Amino acid sequence: MRQFVVTASPVRQKTDCAIVGLHEGGGFAGAGALIDAALKGRLTRLLKSGDVRGKAGEMRMVDTDTLPCERVLVVGLGRKAKFGRKQYRKALVAALGAVAKTGAKDAVSYLGEAVEPADDYYDARLAAEALGAALYRVPAIRSSRKQPEPALRAFGFAVRESGQKAQAQRGLEHGQAIAAGAALTRDLANLPANVCTPTYLARQAKDLSRSYPAVRTQVLEERDLKRLKMGSFLSVTNGTEEPAKLIVMRYDGGRTGEAPVALVGKGVTFDSGGISLKQPPGMDEMKFDMTGAASVFGTIKAAAELGLELNLVGIVPACENMPSGRATKPGDIVKSMSGQTIEIINTDAEGRLILCDALTYVRRFKPAVVVDIATLTGACVIALGAHLSAVMSNDDELADEITAAGQRAEDRCWHMPLAEEYHEQLKSNFADFANACGREGGAITAACFLAKFTEGLRWAHLDIAGTAYLTGTHKGSTGRPVPLLMDFLLRRA
Ligand code: BES
Ligand code: MN
Ligand code: ZN
Repeated sequence: MRQFVVTASPVRQKTDCAIVGLHEGGGFAGAGALIDAALKGRLTRLLKSGDVRGKAGEMRMVDTDTLPCERVLVVGLGRKAKFGRKQYRKALVAALGAVAKTGAKDAVSYLGEAVEPADDYYDARLAAEALGAALYRVPAIRSSRKQPEPALRAFGFAVRESGQKAQAQRGLEHGQAIAAGAALTRDLANLPANVCTPTYLARQAKDLSRSYPAVRTQVLEERDLKRLKMGSFLSVTNGTEEPAKLIVMRYDGGRTGEAPVALVGKGVTFDSGGISLKQPPGMDEMKFDMTGAASVFGTIKAAAELGLELNLVGIVPACENMPSGRATKPGDIVKSMSGQTIEIINTDAEGRLILCDALTYVRRFKPAVVVDIATLTGACVIALGAHLSAVMSNDDELADEITAAGQRAEDRCWHMPLAEEYHEQLKSNFADFANACGREGGAITAACFLAKFTEGLRWAHLDIAGTAYLTGTHKGSTGRPVPLLMDFLLRRA
């Protein structure tokens, strides 16, 4: 997809489709007003007759006949007072989805001018991300014929003055890379667990290093994990026939020797719960339990695509959590790579068991910061729902940095506490501590467990159990938190 910044007046810009906004309770402004005037008030007549009102979600395609733009798509933006970047992105995704269903080969969006306060970089970046989201198709495994590809080949982001061009151009470039990264994340997460196995993920990581010379991949096998004494990670994979992998990716875009940012992603390709078996309703969704891992892949791809000037390490412990005669049992005690022993109260609290050894392993890279990303707890979904991720950290400044990145990227998270009181819940009579406890504060106690392995590291944990995927009719991966992670990295680079 070719993407470019447009500075010409909308009445002179040649395009198959001009996308203009209309606020509810307002009239046409900016590009809409100019096109309306050139069309001798046709858009205003539609407004007067009540054919368009500007309600959020409303769309109306108008043929122009006389203008260099073939059609105008009038997009309802809702009330002006309620219109922010979130509404802007939603309107764009809907509009571009509608355009993609027509024969339009190119489109120009004038919606950027409706966002207040204006930020050319973020408005353009969000537009490129929205385009990626609008055109994304789930890798469906169907016997029937595939959907036809949209005709859309080029996208213009309009600004009023040429002084805005450079920032908007940069926004489009970054947005395209973020969209490509998020699409990879979504593809991997959407795949069924009988395709997307730990072995498959390892192969995808190798593919990444083949596509980008700055990315190197190393895959550790179970025998290597035994040698490293990753007793906690290995205990999760006991019940399955699928071999576990520890995938180590490095992206070197910064100075040699510069401390890397480490991303650690939970890669449970299917979480049945193990012997502490889950209930059948919704169990299929546990194929998404590798979204943390997929977001590490997506972020590394986006970083490599942009040639970000920093060093990155991506660590992905990948395995299945299955019951069998060999599976780990509740009450079993395992020894983590750190030497700390863990009583496994619940085999369904497996994410923390694989992450803790990955967090110990990451120390060898002497990272400047470590961020782990995991669909870790159902309790997080109860606390924050499907809208915000949770962030916990042993460093408040880092938590603030991540919260701010989520805010700017429109991929928000909420800072939750880590405190001594919560640690008490993980006490065990038989080992150093337990892997699970009562349901109260479940997202926090899970983070507390991880904190026991991150002493001396500058570490943050993102629980994305609620935000990683949608359920119901729109079931599927969201690509989050790739935009948040990329914003975080872009600020550091
Ligand atoms: N993968 C799940 C968490 C999860 C739940 C993600 C719902 C997405 C949606 C995780 O491995 C898990 O099972 N956690 C347990 C922990 C408990 C046993 C302490 C949970 O949340 O119930
Ligand atoms: Mn589980
Ligand atoms: Zn899990």
